[in-house]
Amino acid sequence: MRLLLDAASQDKDLTADDVAERYPWPESGKWVRAMMVTTLDGAAVGPDGLSKSVTSAADQVVFNAVRRFADVVLVGAQTVRAEQYTPMTAKPEDAVRRAEAGQTPAPVIAVVTGSLELPWELPVWSGSTHRPIVLTHEGAVPERLARAREHADVLTLPVLSPDQIIDALVARGLRRIVTEGGPTLLRELIAADLVDEADITLSPGFSGTANSPATAMLSEVRGFRLEQVLEQDGFLMTRHLRAGAER
Ligand SMILES: NC(=O)c1ccc[n+]([C@@H]2O[C@H](COP(=O)([O-])OP(=O)(O)OC[C@H]3O[C@@H](n4cnc5c(N)ncnc54)[C@H](OP(=O)(O)O)[C@@H]3O)[C@@H](O)[C@H]2O)c1
Repeated sequence: MRLLLDAASQDKDLTADDVAERYPWPESGKWVRAMMVTTLDGAAVGPDGLSKSVTSAADQVVFNAVRRFADVVLVGAQTVRAEQYTPMTAKPEDAVRRAEAGQTPAPVIAVVTGSLELPWELPVWSGSTHRPIVLTHEGAVPERLARAREHADVLTLPVLSPDQIIDALVARGLRRIVTEGGPTLLRELIAADLVDEADITLSPGFSGTANSPATAMLSEVRGFRLEQVLEQDGFLMTRHLRAGAER
C-alpha cells in the first residue's frame, strides 16, 4: 500500500499545460477516454440535475486539458439537452499545435441520439469550428433527419451500437475520442469494452442519487487500473486505464 497524498501535502501547482501533458494521447491508433465527475455517493449530478454543482475549478482544468487535443467529443443526447453545450472551439495556439500533429483546428462534437430531438437552438451547432456530427440509426424519423441535417453532418448507422458509433468516428479519422457521458452512453461503451481510459474526478461530497441518471447493471464489474491521481481542494482527478489497454 502506498500513501499518494495526505491533507498536508503541498505539491507544486500544475499549470493548464502541465495538466494537458499528464493526459497524453497515444501517437497512433484509436483511444477512447471517458471524462466524468462523480460524488462520494456515486451521483453524476447534484440537486440542480447537472454536473455543475459537483464539479470544481480544478476539475474544469482537467476537463479542458482532455478536450484540447482530442479529435472528437462524444456525448449522449440527454447530456446535450441537460448541459446546454457551448460551441466547440480551440485557442489559436492550440489550433497551431493541433495542425502540427495533423489534427483539425478544433475538436468536433458528436452526439448520439435515436430520437433526433435535440436543442437545435443551442449555439453549439452553428458556433463550433467544425460542423457537429449527429449519430443516429437508419430507422430515424425522416422529418427529424431533415431538420438534423440543417445543423450537423448526420451519420445514419444500421444499428446505433457502441461498436458502430466508435467505428464510424474512426472511419472519419477521429481516433482520439473523449466521451463526456452521460452515464447511459458511458455504460454502453463500457459494456462493449470500448473505453481505454477513464478520467474520473471524485467530488468530495454527497448529493444523493434521486436526480442522477439511473443506468442498467453491467453483467460483471469491468476492471480498470489506477494510473494517476491529481488533487486540489479535496477533489481527486484520477486516470484509470482499462486492464489490458495498450497505448
Ligand atoms: N457527472 C458527469 O460527469 C456528467 C457527464 C455528462 C452528463 N451528466 C449528466 O447526466 C445526465 C445525462 O446523462 P444520461 O445518462 O441521462 O444520458 P446520456 O448518456 O447523456 O444520453 C442518453 C441518450 O443518448 C442517446 N443514446 C445513447 N446511446 C444510445 C443508443 N445505443 N441507441 C440510441 N440512442 C442512444 C439516446 O438519445 P435520444 O433520447 O435522443 O434517443 C439516449 O436517451 C444529465 O443530467 C447530465 O447533466 C453528468
